[in-house]
Amino acid sequence: MFKLMLPLMFTICVSFGADHMPMHNMSQDDDDRLSLGIKGTMQGSHQLSNMRAHMSALAEIVKHMNSNEYDEASAVAKEKLGLTVSMNSMCGSFGNKSFEMMGVTFHKSADALAQTLKTKDQKKSMIALEKVMNGCVLCHSTFKQ
Ligand code: HEC
Repeated sequence: MFKLMLPLMFTICVSFGADHMPMHNMSQDDDDRLSLGIKGTMQGSHQLSNMRAHMSALAEIVKHMNSNEYDEASAVAKEKLGLTVSMNSMCGSFGNKSFEMMGVTFHKSADALAQTLKTKDQKKSMIALEKVMNGCVLCHSTFKQ
């Protein structure tokens, strides 16, 4: 009896899973973010390496804040995430105005963070950091490569 039940149970579980799991909703086809049309291009891989640098800049900022090194945290925010000439031209290089605006607003929020960090006020700095991170989230939920 047991030997018979086991494969039966398995079949029921698998077919139940296939019918009811919402996995197919997460495939790339259902991704309705706006595309920049740069997936797999040189420009695309440059963007991704730039993004990974953004990620490590955030980690560096938090690390410095946790070590009470607010001036160092401020320098990282300004130099690695602030609105430099190269960041500005990178954001404008995809021929998409709303992407450019979102990017520029994000980099300005990083400059504001750099200023706030100079005050060495932990609470205010965390609020400014939250704004920066919301800029990452907003763009990622709007655009894809
Ligand atoms: C103005 C838009 C914009 C902003 C702001 C932005 N990103 Fe991105 N990021 C993108 C796009 C577009 C991609 C590609 C996503 C895709 O195609 O699915 C990306 C991809 C990434 C990736 C994936 C890298 C890889 O190698 O696959 C990381 C990590 C990342 N971003 C981190 C960040 C962090 C951290 C911030 C904020 C500090 C940030 N990004 C801000 C647009 C943005």
